[in-house]
Amino acid sequence: YVIGIDLGTSAVKALLVDRDGRVRGEASESYPLISEKPGYNEQEPERWVEGTVSALRTLVRDSGVEPAAVEGVSFSGQMHGLVLLDAERNVLRNAILWNDTRTTEQCREIESALGGRLLDIAKNRALEGFTLPKLLWVKRHEPETFAKADVFLLPKDYVRYRLTGRIASEYSDAAGTLLLDVAARRWSADIAAAFGLPESLLPPLVAPHADVGTLLPDVADATGLPSTVRVFAGGADNACGAIGAGILSEGETLCSIGTSGVVLSYVGRGDVDYGGRLHFFNHGEADAYYAMGVTLAAGYSLQWFKDAFAPHVPFEALLRGLDETPPGAGGLLFTPYIVGERTPHPDATIRGSFVGMDASHRLAHFTRAVVEGITFSLKESLDILRGAGHDIRSLVSIGGGAKNEHWLQMQADIFGADIHKLESEQGPAMGAAMLAAYGCGWFGSLAECAAVFIKRSRTFRPREEQRAAYDRLFRAYQSVYGHTRELN
Ligand code: XUL
Repeated sequence: YVIGIDLGTSAVKALLVDRDGRVRGEASESYPLISEKPGYNEQEPERWVEGTVSALRTLVRDSGVEPAAVEGVSFSGQMHGLVLLDAERNVLRNAILWNDTRTTEQCREIESALGGRLLDIAKNRALEGFTLPKLLWVKRHEPETFAKADVFLLPKDYVRYRLTGRIASEYSDAAGTLLLDVAARRWSADIAAAFGLPESLLPPLVAPHADVGTLLPDVADATGLPSTVRVFAGGADNACGAIGAGILSEGETLCSIGTSGVVLSYVGRGDVDYGGRLHFFNHGEADAYYAMGVTLAAGYSLQWFKDAFAPHVPFEALLRGLDETPPGAGGLLFTPYIVGERTPHPDATIRGSFVGMDASHRLAHFTRAVVEGITFSLKESLDILRGAGHDIRSLVSIGGGAKNEHWLQMQADIFGADIHKLESEQGPAMGAAMLAAYGCGWFGSLAECAAVFIKRSRTFRPREEQRAAYDRLFRAYQSVYGHTRELN
């Protein structure tokens, strides 16, 4: 067996998988988000470690498998979060997360200091969520803390350190820091030097499937796993989501709708240039990449809408509204910018809107407008990928957005592409388990592993009439940003 651990933003999930890719057990533990000011999002790294150990303990206890038969463990993790450690390896402050937007000033500083070199080396624009702006924020606003910092780690790399005692990061998560030379797969001494960051602050880098050691004896005791279990580095959640959906060759595209939503395409080479319009990160397959657009509030928009306007309506009943209303929600449009946006508008201050209300609209219309707005936003990312030469005729859809058939059909109609649903979708935790399976030598490549582990079930095809109606609405949707950006 292998175990994939997905360190998410609201919970950690541990998945036990056998050699045929069958899920033999699952356990999860949640932890709180600390949001002391608008735009601030932090978490206590200790809670991740406690949650992970506890989820592993439950998994081992409840699955009924022989713990000695677990050969390997690997990780997927929420990207970009900053964990700072001192020389004794104590955590210096709460982790600042990917969805924290306090760093606009640092982003401008990075862009003006580096100019075009940022895109040449790090392949991405400076966005509030990324790690380098967070490091500079701490340097500027908490200089005593920064002075004590000996090394920084990303969230799942910190948990792996606590499980193994070994400090390391890997390419796919390092790509989200703005400190990686993405094509060369090494830290950029130039970028570190430009901001006076000592290179010792940057952890050693390995490949996502690299063996980084075994479990510490006290972790083995606490989880019930043998201390001989091999631990592999793992990958960023989007990289692992791609692996776990079988996005492992040129032409494959993923749509993942969770708290945030992404559309990403596999890219086989590192020397491509998307002009910063998309994120360009290293894949979980060590020498590959992916280009990705991000909608910050995808599932989060729907959750917000339900909490604010229909707290007593169960999700399933709310989504029945998709069945009861026509495409276009009777002319009602929603833009999902409730916590700012990334793609195609890298703008932390834009806010969302409902446009086009009339007196006939009911809860079902608003629900439909929210779901359509999220999907329109993802289509904008898809269109940038298409504009950059990706011929996308089908996507694999995962996450909360793949749980509802009406939403899957809507994705097909709005994207103008076939949408594949997976048979037993496990998200990034499955990608992490696959990295462990590959690391253990069960397969010669991740693609060989995917051929055994990942099966598609249904395909949703675009319907011409709906597609045409959505195309008209999409143009109206696209004009909303320009008209609302001045309102803040
Ligand atoms: C990607 C991003 C999010 C997080 C979610 O750039 O910020 O998708 O990885 O965990």
